[in-house]
Amino acid sequence: MGRPLSRLRCIDCGRDYPLDEIRYECDACSALLEVAHDFDRLQEARDGPAWRRLFDTRLGETSGTARSGVWRYHELVLPDLPSGHVVTKPEGNTNLYPSERLQEISRTRDVRIKHEGENPTLSFKDRGMSAGVSWARHLGVQQVACASTGDTSAAMAAYAAQVEGMRGVVVLPKDKVSMEQLSQPIASGCLTVSLPTDFDACIRLLRDVCRRHSIYLLNSVNPVRIEGQKSIAYETVQQLNWEPPDWMVVPVGNAGNISAIGKGLADLKTLGIIDRLPRLLGAQPEAAAPLARAHQEGYREHVRVKAGDTVATAIRIGDPVSYDKAVRAVRASNGAFISSSEQEIMDAKALVDRTGLYICPNSATAVAGFLKAREQGMIASGERVVIVATAHGCKFSQATIDYHGARLPGIAPRFANRVVEIAADAGAIERLLVPGVPGFSLRKDGE
Ligand code: F0G
Repeated sequence: MGRPLSRLRCIDCGRDYPLDEIRYECDACSALLEVAHDFDRLQEARDGPAWRRLFDTRLGETSGTARSGVWRYHELVLPDLPSGHVVTKPEGNTNLYPSERLQEISRTRDVRIKHEGENPTLSFKDRGMSAGVSWARHLGVQQVACASTGDTSAAMAAYAAQVEGMRGVVVLPKDKVSMEQLSQPIASGCLTVSLPTDFDACIRLLRDVCRRHSIYLLNSVNPVRIEGQKSIAYETVQQLNWEPPDWMVVPVGNAGNISAIGKGLADLKTLGIIDRLPRLLGAQPEAAAPLARAHQEGYREHVRVKAGDTVATAIRIGDPVSYDKAVRAVRASNGAFISSSEQEIMDAKALVDRTGLYICPNSATAVAGFLKAREQGMIASGERVVIVATAHGCKFSQATIDYHGARLPGIAPRFANRVVEIAADAGAIERLLVPGVPGFSLRKDGE
């Protein structure tokens, strides 16, 4: 093997470490680590147009790792990982849907939704987890673990299940993940642990245990996860024919994803694949909005909050692990963080769902954030916007059913589509559907 192309590097003091050392923070200053590639060598290998051509050629792959929407960009994700060690389903290759409805309602030229809920375990986490579990396999790790609000755990369990001899442990906050999410690690044969506390406490406890024992932590504090996650940015820009949008809007919880998207976009610019950076808008629910508050306060201090209840349960996080990375990425892009109310989030979800895309409340937080930023004039009418939908609506069906049935406390649904209960006879169905039949009644809700 030649000289490695990547090292771990502290985001504060710059101290670096070999990538194959298992560590999650800097020994010298305790700050977060990132994977740093040798960009001189990547630039020597190809210029921007040649990188674009290489990735475009791979779009036609029907077998092998390059047909994955992560490993198509293998050289920019984990160049030192042999392709024989890749653990893939494959993931990625999610659709980028134009949203005429959002364009109309917000009077914006071009709005698209990158639907990451179309990944194999129905969330964007599959991208980072493919990288994380591949690297764990490469290192010969036997036990992997994560704390989760429900999607990281589903992904980790499903990828670990693909590796002979790899055991997975997920730690979940009791009664704070959806039934569908809870079912996923159980189904994949993972040790599923439930703690009577919130996510912030789960990750604090698990980080401490992993630091002291040889259990490989696969939360996004693990910088290798971020490398796979970056591919959302690569793939989105490639789907736009390498013409970056003006904004990317991302729901933010633990803040790994927005950090990854910022890092991915920066990679593309450094390699001459794009020539300007989109601005990043991070969206949070008001009940758990430490970064939106920090933005408002000019990032004077590190904000931590006690997360309150929200329909966006996957981003119910008051003390994001990747806070510092996210703040840097958003500020470098001249972007912002914004927060929305429960009502705004669920109405935004219903708006998008009605167009036939089914998104989750966390993704809807990004849609609500976009609508608000547009209203405030932060986003201009002529700009091109990509909203990242992070999980599929089917993972959070109770929230959808409760919204449309007007059963969410404090929310008066603007776009309710109530279930109609009628007698089990043909006459009742006719009275509902066929104009002219005696007793015909037009449905009032949501026609
Ligand atoms: N959307 C969904 C559906 C999520 O599951 C998460 C995070 C986010 C957005 C926020 O991404 O944490 O990178 O800022 N879920 C984590 C989990 C915390 O455990 O599944 P982030």
